[in-house]
Amino acid sequence: MNDNITILDHPLLKHKISVLRDKATGTNEFRKIIEEIAMLMGYEALRDLPLDEIEVETPIETCLTPVIAGKKLAIVPILRAGLGMVPGMLALVPTAKVGHIGMYRDEETHEPHEYYCKLPEQVEDRIVIVVDPMLATGGSACDALNLIKSKGVKNIKLMSVIAAPEGLEKVAAEHPDVQVYVAQLDRCLNEDAYICPGLGDAGDRIFGTK
Ligand code: PRP
Ligand code: URA
Repeated sequence: MNDNITILDHPLLKHKISVLRDKATGTNEFRKIIEEIAMLMGYEALRDLPLDEIEVETPIETCLTPVIAGKKLAIVPILRAGLGMVPGMLALVPTAKVGHIGMYRDEETHEPHEYYCKLPEQVEDRIVIVVDPMLATGGSACDALNLIKSKGVKNIKLMSVIAAPEGLEKVAAEHPDVQVYVAQLDRCLNEDAYICPGLGDAGDRIFGTK
């Protein structure tokens, strides 16, 4: 793979992913935990955010102190399941803009199909964080990254909660410049291109549609 791939390793992430995996976990709890995981992952993925210094008057004295620099962030969930990660990211950076890319996988071919794209203005000047809990074949993520790059964006990160080796390899090969953060690398894909052991259909579990 490449240096831009980070598999996060933290007991809190491992515990929360185990709760997500459990088919007895209901929609309400699933959604809450996806949000918490996004926040924990975002904390790591945003570690290299550029800082500026501003002058602040404390009750004691005036000091120079760091704040997030002017380069603006855009969070871009891949619909639907990526939506579940947005609140956690906005909790970290409330001023971030949010774009949306709609993709669904064909049930037979497992190929992604784009049905919606709305990105913030001047997206080319922003750091774009693409969020989607599942990186399975990698088709949806790669298409979304191609789309974002076609708008002139240079600085892109991808955050996925669970990845299959196949999907991670595809993203690493096609988008070696994108920094990828994964909380759990699972074993493989099954014949329906679902991640094993995975957590099932993330969109359905977040929105209670099955
Ligand atoms: C899921 C998931 C990813 C995609 C991953 O979306 O949220 O976007 O599958 O699979 P891939 O890596 O093989 O492309 P899905 O197509 O099920 O749509 P949904 O979120 O609307 O249910
Ligand atoms: N999409 C999901 O939601 N789950 C998988 O396991 C694979 C693709």
